[in-house]
Amino acid sequence: MPYDLFSPAFKANPFPTFAQMREHDPIYAQRTPDGRAIWYVTRYEDVTAVLKDDVHFCKDPRHAKPDDEPRHSPLHQLINENMLFADPPDHTRLRALVNQAFTPRRVERMDGRIRQIAQDLLSGARARGQMELIAEYALPLPVRIICELLGVPLADQSDVSDWSQAIIAPGSRGLNYSARRRKVKALVDYLQRMFADRATNPQDDLVTALVQAEEAGAKLNVQELSSMVALLLVTGHETTVNLIGNGVLALLTHPDQLARLLAGEVEWGTAVNELLRYDGPVETSTTRWVRQDMVWRGQQLRRGDVMRVVLAAANRDETQFDRPDALDVGRTNNRHLAFGVGIHYCLGAPLARLEGHIALSLLFTQFPGLRLAVPPEQLRWRSGVLFRGLQALPVAW
Ligand code: HEM
Repeated sequence: MPYDLFSPAFKANPFPTFAQMREHDPIYAQRTPDGRAIWYVTRYEDVTAVLKDDVHFCKDPRHAKPDDEPRHSPLHQLINENMLFADPPDHTRLRALVNQAFTPRRVERMDGRIRQIAQDLLSGARARGQMELIAEYALPLPVRIICELLGVPLADQSDVSDWSQAIIAPGSRGLNYSARRRKVKALVDYLQRMFADRATNPQDDLVTALVQAEEAGAKLNVQELSSMVALLLVTGHETTVNLIGNGVLALLTHPDQLARLLAGEVEWGTAVNELLRYDGPVETSTTRWVRQDMVWRGQQLRRGDVMRVVLAAANRDETQFDRPDALDVGRTNNRHLAFGVGIHYCLGAPLARLEGHIALSLLFTQFPGLRLAVPPEQLRWRSGVLFRGLQALPVAW
């Protein structure tokens, strides 16, 4: 294979490889042992085209390979068959239902809580003069917020968080199949008790709103409810953490850009948008499947082939962005794809932006002397094609 897409060296800086792919192999096939193609799409225009085209590309593999066995065991169906892996009309119905519950008003109301939790985490670390930013700040903040939004009481949050982390990337967390299954089962049992409770004892929380949501006389069933809440828990754990972690690293390694923010020359909201483009949390969108044999952009695609749409590559495309490899916190006209595009556009984007804005502005204004506690070359990135985030980020002040 001409491109190294999996090594730690690639993960440390994938952008030169993506630039080569955009230039020489914009639709690039990696072949599996059974001859199937996994297509990597790296140009902005092509990435947008795939994400917006749900006629030729689908999310539910059964729509590309209908003879296949069901993908998941009954237990895993309860958490994995959610709207992110659904096509219209199912996706349309599920998204309309969750939109009733996950409203802009509910997100705006979290502003004060996000600020309070971020402040508590910073105050707890201040006297020590150092911390591991991912474990002590970037992760606990979004986890606390998604748990509070859903209505998971504080006493249960650490269990729910532990079980939720077993859903994704189990290998990288050193879990074997049965340990993972036990945790997933514990989460499903917990959620089902919560749904039953909220049906008779409604609260002012997202789980109650989801239990009550109704569209054309239909409500979410138990499978749809648990997979929806599991999706929110997973996205709450795996994404904003990287916006904060990658964002802190980018600003610490570009002190001129940080200075513009601290001098009040640039709004934090504009900078967060640029950090999402420059080194966003999601490297590659979730899989699209080719629905039928076709020639696309000069390549022969086969029914059932996998499309990997590389958001991180599209966000550095020189045909779309001026000086794409430069971090410019004041960049305007910044139509990046960090939250995807089309019908699966990120549901949590307003919440993630708010969390990123508060987390970064509080951190840098309260710790103006913040610095990396190790040389940048020593930092290690998490493996896997989906997310882009640091394993750890030691900082000092
Ligand atoms: C900076 C943080 C975040 C980034 C960069 C991000 C990115 C994305 C992307 C790229 C997609 C589309 C994936 C695809 O098309 O394959 C997506 C979908 C989604 N995101 Fe986010 N996300 C973030 C935070 C969140 C948060 C905090 C939540 C929930 C609380 C969330 C909930 C969702 C959901 C439910 C979907 C599926 C939408 C659908 O299928 O219609 N995201 N996100």
